[in-house]
Amino acid sequence: STGYITLDPGFVNTGAASSAITYIDGDAGILRYRGYPIEQLAQDSNFIEVSYLLIYGELPSKSQLEEFTSRINRHTLLHEDLKRFFDGFPRDAHPMPVLSSAVSALSTFYQDSLNPFDEPNVEMSTIRLLAKVPTLAAYAYKKSIGQPFLYPDNSLGLVENFLRMTFGLPAEPYEVDPDIAKALDMLFILHADHEQNCSTSTVRLVGSSEANLFASVSAGIQALFGPLHGGANAAVLEMLEGIQADGGDVGTFVERVKNKEEGVKLMGFGHRVYKNYDPRAKIIKKTADEILRKIGGNDQLLDIAMKLEETALSDDYFVERKLYPNVDFYTGLIYRALGFPTKYFTVLFALGRLPGWIAHWREMINDPATKIGRPRQIYTGERQRDYVSIDNR
Ligand code: SDX
Repeated sequence: STGYITLDPGFVNTGAASSAITYIDGDAGILRYRGYPIEQLAQDSNFIEVSYLLIYGELPSKSQLEEFTSRINRHTLLHEDLKRFFDGFPRDAHPMPVLSSAVSALSTFYQDSLNPFDEPNVEMSTIRLLAKVPTLAAYAYKKSIGQPFLYPDNSLGLVENFLRMTFGLPAEPYEVDPDIAKALDMLFILHADHEQNCSTSTVRLVGSSEANLFASVSAGIQALFGPLHGGANAAVLEMLEGIQADGGDVGTFVERVKNKEEGVKLMGFGHRVYKNYDPRAKIIKKTADEILRKIGGNDQLLDIAMKLEETALSDDYFVERKLYPNVDFYTGLIYRALGFPTKYFTVLFALGRLPGWIAHWREMINDPATKIGRPRQIYTGERQRDYVSIDNR
């Protein structure tokens, strides 16, 4: 009745919540958002339409999409006091804790929209997040390079507006490159949801206490920051640059991984669910080559990445452990070619994952059967024992 399914005894006794949002078959490498294959959505849809699909459960009609888009456009501006929020951070602050803090601060500006059971409030919070998080992310970038913030230009689409606020300057017009916008839009679609991953489970767990949507998403951003989760896309770039600095010696690096040298992992490889090629990585790899050739990018790093993949996929160590490229293996190369510094890669992951977090929070708050409740544990500590006074210890 609680919607829990108890996993087979092989698993630690974690009950999994049910959900109707995203389906993954880890062995077959299948990913579907609300039943639609990720390959079709990445090819034929766009990020704002996929956001609508994840949150409301159906593809929008033309008029529904226009209305959704205009509602978002009306809320891309930040409260002027919230803009001043960035003054308090050190210039070299990592953008993920800045973004998480700023999203949490939204709940102080919209205290009327915090009741999780008031449908109009939840709608308002949904639109405000979708509209303002790209602005907050762009401002975190501008703050770190000491450049002025640009107000949103609502004649542009969501992704184009984000690119303009990130790379534009008040002193000159900024033309959004349609190839860059399309590449980023597709990457956002591929990151939009992924079932009960670490950050989405965090959003659901925090929300299960009836904490508001802003607070829950803020917690999800912090969970995504971890290098084993969303932080991996930046770690892949650092790994490839390290191999490049060693003269592109992929073989030596792979041996270091197999010898399990302290902290040396093949970042961007492996997955808790996919024991096959991550379908997102397949799509990204296919377009990474095209995008990098078209807009220019460090082809040497792409060549190293492809050589690393080829070496690993023909090595029993990785094949036996079912380690394949995941979503993070190629994305960093594209983000870098699009002009983003490495420490912003995980912010881009958060921008993509935002509609998924919102969809899961709304599903959980409306359907107790989908709640991740209070997990239990297997106690492995001391048996009962009597207190000893300090003089006798
Ligand atoms: C994301 O959950 C999601 O859906 C997440 C995500 C999403 O969209 O939200 O898909 C996004 O987080 C993708 C993952 C990004 N992280 C990385 O690329 C970091 C590197 N990957 C690993 O840390 C690891 O693969 C995990 C954490 C992702 C998954 O770990 P698993 O599947 O639980 O594997 P494991 O830790 O049980 O390891 C099994 C074996 C071990 O070797 P043995 O002890 O059996 O000898 O495989 C080895 C591990 O040491 N192994 C690796 C490895 N990943 C696992 N060895 C080298 N390099 C790796 N990357």
